[in-house]
This record gives sequence, structure tokens and C-alpha cells, in this order.
Amino acid sequence: MGKNNSELLFSTERVSTEHVSTDQSLKLYEQVIHYVIVRIDRGDWPADVKLPSVRSLAQELGVHRLTVFRAYQELKQQGRIYVKDKSGYYAHASHATGLKKFAAYSECSSIQRGLYSESAHAADDPSVSAWRGMDGLTRVQSVNADFQFSKALIDPSLLPNRYWGELMVQVFEKHPKVAATYSSVQGDAELRAAMAQHFSADKHFALSTDEVLITSGAQQAIDLISRSLIRTGDRVLIERPAYGPAMEIFRRQGARLTMTDIRPEGYDMDQIEWCMKTEKPRLFYMNPTFHNPTGFTVPDEQRKQLPELAERYGCLIVEDDSTYDISFGQKPPSPIFAYDISGSVVYIRSYSKYVAPGLRIAAVACRRQLMHSLLSVKALVDNGSPLLNQKLFLQYFQSPRMQQHIKKLCIALQIRKETMEDCLRDSGWTWTSPSGGLSLWLQLPSELKPNELLAKSIQESISFVPGNVFDPVGAEGKTHIRLSYSYANELQIQEGISRLLRISQSM
Ligand SMILES: Cc1ncc(COP(=O)(O)O)c(C=O)c1O
Repeated sequence: MGKNNSELLFSTERVSTEHVSTDQSLKLYEQVIHYVIVRIDRGDWPADVKLPSVRSLAQELGVHRLTVFRAYQELKQQGRIYVKDKSGYYAHASHATGLKKFAAYSECSSIQRGLYSESAHAADDPSVSAWRGMDGLTRVQSVNADFQFSKALIDPSLLPNRYWGELMVQVFEKHPKVAATYSSVQGDAELRAAMAQHFSADKHFALSTDEVLITSGAQQAIDLISRSLIRTGDRVLIERPAYGPAMEIFRRQGARLTMTDIRPEGYDMDQIEWCMKTEKPRLFYMNPTFHNPTGFTVPDEQRKQLPELAERYGCLIVEDDSTYDISFGQKPPSPIFAYDISGSVVYIRSYSKYVAPGLRIAAVACRRQLMHSLLSVKALVDNGSPLLNQKLFLQYFQSPRMQQHIKKLCIALQIRKETMEDCLRDSGWTWTSPSGGLSLWLQLPSELKPNELLAKSIQESISFVPGNVFDPVGAEGKTHIRLSYSYANELQIQEGISRLLRISQSM
């Protein structure tokens, strides 16, 4: 990557005119409106506190003063802000309508290319907004069901519960003051060194301790990356369907999402190149191995091409590899990060799902420039993940037990997956059998509506996730459901799926 390009990609202080002026779907003053609303809604600019002057905001955003003036006038008319004693502009105290109203400015500029940009219409459609984003996923997962197919989490009885007490004693013997000490912001050096060494040996990453950051789960890693890199109005490229909370994290940072399909055979690379070239997304968030929710895995040859494209168009690839180790049979291809030689990929690896969800340990691997930005945000967010959790995890990570556990777990999950597939064999529902991961992504017959099926199923203590949580704008959201086989045991799978099919036949 040319030096200038890479500096632009990783700088936290981007030249704001760059993103403001090149955008085609929003007028400049509309982008300023969006920017102001996001800052107000996020609490950066509290109610009844003076907003930046027209001159200073224009300077900050690199736009003309008249553009900011027009945005402020519009916001005043909408009742979002007011003018006081000619001293300046102030945000009103209670106004929940801001971003929703503003969503009307979004356009589906790329639909002809098969890429989908979110539109206001999707947000207004009750069948979409009902289960949309983090809120939708949390809500459906909080349903107390006997047949729990909505949680892409692992049955706690399959996790290594027995050892933690013993390991905890060892940790306190080695580090008597561990609970009396903060971790460094980047994470415990011993754990980072062990992870760097493991990845280097196992995945052929050339990785140093300084290039690993410990976060409290993959979710936090996505959030840190989003806060470090995304500015209001930035484009984010994301798969369709995609992990709902990631979409929500980017949206809340003010990003506009463009979605590109993920298929059993991977991505449409022409589509991705076209998008990178014309829409200039700041980053491409992807989950290319045993993708959640589809279970698809992007093939090796695309993995090799992606860093090259990212470098050419100055788009950071965020590779979320939360279930890389959960494979049935053949190992998945190497992570995209392994093919990156220009620092265009950031790699997220979580151990939350399949080792110890309660410890919330994940690692981010990236090159130094980006690490610097992530550390400054991590310092503000929590000053470093809990040291005790990191030391405890390290004990397990370094013992042969962890790899033994993963092997056994994969066998148990494969059996559960096959049990679920056997139960669904005559359903008329269709899916691509995943070679790893935690869930099936199923297409229902056209007369069966996911949300209606869910409502009836919940009455019979069965839960699953309707497709629109992962695909809020496209067709699959209306026809697909995610059934996780990782949380329920085999008997529950057999009984629950048979009940679910009975319900569907009665509709
Ligand atoms: C693709 C993906 N990324 C991130 C996460 C969050 O993982 P963690 O528990 O490590 O925060 C999940 C959890 O479901 C996920 O499926």
C-alpha cells in the first residue's frame, strides 16, 4: 500500500472533507445534519449546552460556513436545536426522533449492482424493526424457552467447567496480587506473547506481542474498531446476512451500511471491487469462516484476493473469526489475515463462545498503526480487560487441555448438527449443511412467515431467530430463520424440532 493511503486508512484524525465531499447519496448539509444528530444522540453534545459555533464546526468538518448554517437552520426547524439570546445554538432536551427522521435521507444507491444500502423504508417496516439489530436478538434470546434454538452459544455442560477452580488456585499461587492489580491497556503481556506465538506457529502469521490486543470479547473488539475508524457518514461494507449486533455497532457510530451477499461459494468479488472503488467504504466487516448465521466459509482463493483489493482501494478488512476452531472434518482455510502483507486486515479471534464465555477473552491482531488507535479507545472504554480473567485464561490456553477440549467439543457439536438435520430431512425446508459453526440457516417455504412461526413457537416454548435480525433489508430476512444446534442437547433437538414442524404444518 502506498504510504499516503495507509496513513489515511489508519489515522484517527482523518481529513474530514474527504468523507464529507465525496459522498453522492447525501447532500453536504445533510451529512452535517446527520453528524450533529449523532453527536447529540450519543451524548457528546448534551441538551442545553452550547453547540460548536458555525465557524468552528465548519472548520472541524472542512466544509463552508454556509453549509453548517443551513444544517443548523434545518435542525432548528425540526425542533432538534434552538437559538438562545443570539449567543449560539443549543440542543433541545428531549428529542428521540433525530436519527430516525434523518434515515429518510438514505438512498439505495447500489441496488442495481446487487449491493444493498439500508433505506429508511426498511427501518419503518414493522416486520423489520420488530426484531432488528441488537435489540431484536437480545429480545428473542431472552425468551425463556424449553427448546432453545435462538442462542448461538454452547451448551454450558459441554464447556470445561471442572478445571477453573484448580486453575484459579494456581493463578493466585503464581500471582498473589493479581486481583489487586490493573492489566495494562493492551492486555497481559504473558497472554499476548502466548497468543502471538500460537498464531505464528499454527496459522503462519508473523505476529509480535505488540501486535496483539486483548479485549473483553469479540463484541468489544468490533466496537473499538468502529469507534477508532468510523466517522459519521462513512460507508461500511458488510455481508448480507450479517451478525446483527455488528450492524448495530456501526450504525450507532453513524456509518451507512452497504451489504454484499455471502453465498456457499463465498463472495461476488466483482461486486466487492466495484463497491470498494465507487463507494469507498472505510472498512469491510466480515465473518468468513463458519459465518454467523449462514455457516458458509469463504474459499481460499478469495481469501488471497481480498487483502490485495483492500490495499488497492484503502479499505480495511475486519476479519471476525469467532468460531474458527469449531470445524467438522477438514480444517477451514487459513484466515485472510495470514495473506495480508500491507496491514490492510485486522483479525478478531474470540475464545468466548467455545472455551469460557464468562471470562470474555478475545484477541485482536493488527499492525502497529492501527493498534495505536485501538489502544487510545480501549483506554477510554475500560482501561484494559480484567487481569484475573486473562491470567486464568492463560493457564488454560497454555495447557494441552484446551486443544483436547476443542477436539471433543467439535465432535459433540457435529452430532447435534446431524441430529437437527435428520429431524428436518422431510420438512421441505432447505439449507446448506455447514462444515463448522453453531447454526443452520434455513429457507422456509414461501407461505410460512418467520415472524408468524416464531410467535406461535414461543407459545410452545420454542425459540429461534428470524432472518430479518441478520438481513434487515433483503429477501432472505423474510424467508429464512436461524436454528442453533449448539445450546440444546440431542433429546431437546429431537423433541423441539418435531414440535416446531408440527406448528409449521398447522399454519
Ligand atoms: C460473528 C460474531 N462476532 C462476534 C460475536 C461476539 O462474541 P463475543 O462473545 O466474543 O463478544 C459473536 C457472538 O455471537 C458472533 O457470532
